[in-house]
Amino acid sequence: MHRLQILQVQKCHEEFEKAMALGQYDKARLIALRCSELLRNLASENLDLSHILLEEAKKWEDKARNIRKKKEARNEYFDRLKVLIKKSTVTWNDIGGLKEAKKLIAQAVGLSIAKSPIDPPQGILLFGPPGTGKSLLASATANSLNATFFSVKASDLLSKYFGESSKLVSALFSLARQLSPSVIFIDEVDSLTMKRSSLDDAARRMIGTLLAEIDGFKDKRRKVIVLTATNTPWDLDEAMLSRLPIRIYVPLPDIPSAVEIFRIHLRGIPHEVSLNKLAKEAVKKLYSGREIANVVKLATMKMLEEMNPELVDPLRVATLKGKDLTTRPLTMDDFRYAMAKIKSPITKSDVKKYEKWAKEFGI
Ligand SMILES: Nc1ncnc2c1ncn2[C@@H]1O[C@H](COP(=O)(O)OP(=O)(O)OP(=O)(O)O)[C@@H](O)[C@H]1O
Ligand SMILES: [Mg+2]
Repeated sequence: MHRLQILQVQKCHEEFEKAMALGQYDKARLIALRCSELLRNLASENLDLSHILLEEAKKWEDKARNIRKKKEARNEYFDRLKVLIKKSTVTWNDIGGLKEAKKLIAQAVGLSIAKSPIDPPQGILLFGPPGTGKSLLASATANSLNATFFSVKASDLLSKYFGESSKLVSALFSLARQLSPSVIFIDEVDSLTMKRSSLDDAARRMIGTLLAEIDGFKDKRRKVIVLTATNTPWDLDEAMLSRLPIRIYVPLPDIPSAVEIFRIHLRGIPHEVSLNKLAKEAVKKLYSGREIANVVKLATMKMLEEMNPELVDPLRVATLKGKDLTTRPLTMDDFRYAMAKIKSPITKSDVKKYEKWAKEFGI
């Protein structure tokens, strides 16, 4: 057999593997059929080897047939994965404070999408107390890149609904590559630690696949950005942490950040208050952005109830149908009322714990 002919077969094989890795099944099927034809031609020219070559040709025909089945299975996964695609309308301007976190994300993402002389970073971990804007940051990242936004809770990946989750994770990354640029946001990533004794074999396999996908061996150009989030970074194990080298602390707001967050949530709501005073109080009470948003909601509710007594009267509430509610600007009193009711879920010692972890493991 000529060297050239051997090379042709080799090339065919390589093209086939590549198409399969990229999930291009129709193309892969055609390549498999071409490989088979090539081998049949060779068999007719090399009679001494024809037996072996014909066997090989048959194998390629089988491969071509099997791809059809694979494609059907893949479509089934892809339908299930489509529910994870979220529309993201959050912009950077909707997120108060967090300048450092925003900067670090921009940098990591920039290195991933540009032609950079250094290897792009792997996954990004956002950690911090509940309600500080981790999910918002992921959403804004996707929106700013005009990327397909996959948002998934780690617990969903472990749930029975997703069945064979290891294959599903591969399919997720494959779909994300196809629809790239993509952001995959994995929330509550702490629940994916191998240390958990309750994990069964399937769950372990799934985590193994996920770690390999985050490594990104199939995606050298990193068109898929992996963002993860947790409230309990100390629960992450070594295997996961080493894949998430960019660990960004998303802290409670300081006073200037709290002012910005109040301003964002008060957009379009008339108010006569000192944002600075409110922000100081919010910081003292260890509020996150979520508590600030809730305070604004509660203060507004109180004002509306006061101005529209029908709102809280079951006998008269029907009279409001189609009517504009009466309003007045929010006052400090409305906020004092709301802030007395809303409590932060975390304590000073929790904050210390985050800061210590950030110092030790963060960037
Ligand atoms: N920095 C912020 N700027 C503006 N709003 C914020 C900010 N942080 C939180 N919020 C408000 O709180 C809500 C919850 O924020 P988000 O879901 O991003 O928190 P999280 O950090 O993901 O919380 P968890 O850890 O509980 O998942 C947001 O929808 C928004 O209304
Ligand atoms: Mg969140």
